[in-house]
Amino acid sequence: MKKTIRDFDLQGKKVLIRVDFNVPLDKDLNVTDDNRIRASLPTIRYALDHGAQVVLMSHLGRPEGKPVSSMSLSPAANRLSELLGKPVIQCSDCVGPRVKEELSRLNGKTQVALLENLRFSPAEEKNDASFAKQLAENGDIYINDAFGSSHRAHASIEAITKYLPAGAGFLLEKEIQYLGDAMQNPKKPFVAVLGGSKVSDKIGVVENLISKVDKILIGGAMAYTFLKVQGIGIGASKYEKDRLDLAKTVLDRAKEKKVEILLPVDHVCVQRADERAPIKIEGPAIPEGWLGVDIGPKTIALFSKTLETAKTVVWNGPMGIFEMNPFSKGSHEIALTLSRLQGAATVIGGGDTAACVIGFGLDNRMTHISTGGGASLEYLEGKPLPGVAALQDK
Ligand code: ADP
Ligand code: 3PG
Ligand code: MG
Repeated sequence: MKKTIRDFDLQGKKVLIRVDFNVPLDKDLNVTDDNRIRASLPTIRYALDHGAQVVLMSHLGRPEGKPVSSMSLSPAANRLSELLGKPVIQCSDCVGPRVKEELSRLNGKTQVALLENLRFSPAEEKNDASFAKQLAENGDIYINDAFGSSHRAHASIEAITKYLPAGAGFLLEKEIQYLGDAMQNPKKPFVAVLGGSKVSDKIGVVENLISKVDKILIGGAMAYTFLKVQGIGIGASKYEKDRLDLAKTVLDRAKEKKVEILLPVDHVCVQRADERAPIKIEGPAIPEGWLGVDIGPKTIALFSKTLETAKTVVWNGPMGIFEMNPFSKGSHEIALTLSRLQGAATVIGGGDTAACVIGFGLDNRMTHISTGGGASLEYLEGKPLPGVAALQDK
């Protein structure tokens, strides 16, 4: 068990909170999805209510170690200020005398501070100790609430824990609780739904899940590599030639473990991946020249029926090219099925899968939607997250 923000006396202290405000911005630099900012509010409010001064830090994008004005955290500061109903002071940098001076003027009762993008310095991604020490000078207690960045052993995530008392924020705690319960203590039947673009991205997840789940439903483009290796025609669908052997190994392992892997039995097919392209439903084989862009109606029925009796469901990876409306039905129907389950834990991981469920307006109907893309994948792969491991034990 790791320490959490509840384990520290915050009164009169400066609490340095690592958040993940790596949010998408449009071309006018407006935040287009503020879920990660909203998700940080409970920790920030708790710290303020317990008499702390709050100093936040985050990265945004991949500026590669130098300041890039379009990757400033200012838009996130503005959005946070609206959500919090308090001024958010955007610091000019994340370390150094000028930041110290800016923080010395902070009125901790009525304002919070946000340091500038950590990745404007190359030292952040190098997990550099002296940079971490300088960051640590901005606070008395360190709280990691950046679940989405906790798979990165970076200075603000890992090295900094050597210089300050370190615990988890509420978001990090919640993520580990829901993802951890599903992986370590699942109520059975436990069904995993996997999809998305590549087998290679998800293979670690499949391998880790095989020893835990009862059934695995595979959709999305990754299904075609599995169908192809079984000699089923996939037409011009996206697949990974160099992962065919791997797919075969996974199918064999599943058989050994008596885990049923269900693949699509029909597909929404088009001749080019374009929303206006004429559609036909084919299956299980896809004709030459056609590509599968979503699971078909029989597959939706098969997957939904399997899910109806599940008590734990982990879903990672959309069932089709959900960004294009005509090819989003498979993902939508799976999301609807999950939203109707009674007494089951439904846990959604993966950046695109989360965006997809939120886009359907079904996020409130799920037990948990992870704010981490890469981090939730690594967690589902069973890898320890450096940002969690580095925190103090209770
Ligand atoms: P996540 O971010 O949730 O882990 P991925 O990044 O693995 O998910 O996969 C999401 C992507 O997979 C989406 O951009 C989607 O368009 C794509 N995808 C899903 N099904 C197909 C398909 N049949 N053909 C091509 N791309 C697909
Ligand atoms: C994410 O969006 O997945 C996290 O903020 C981590 O970002 P990164 O992949 O650039 O390290
Ligand atoms: Mg993705």
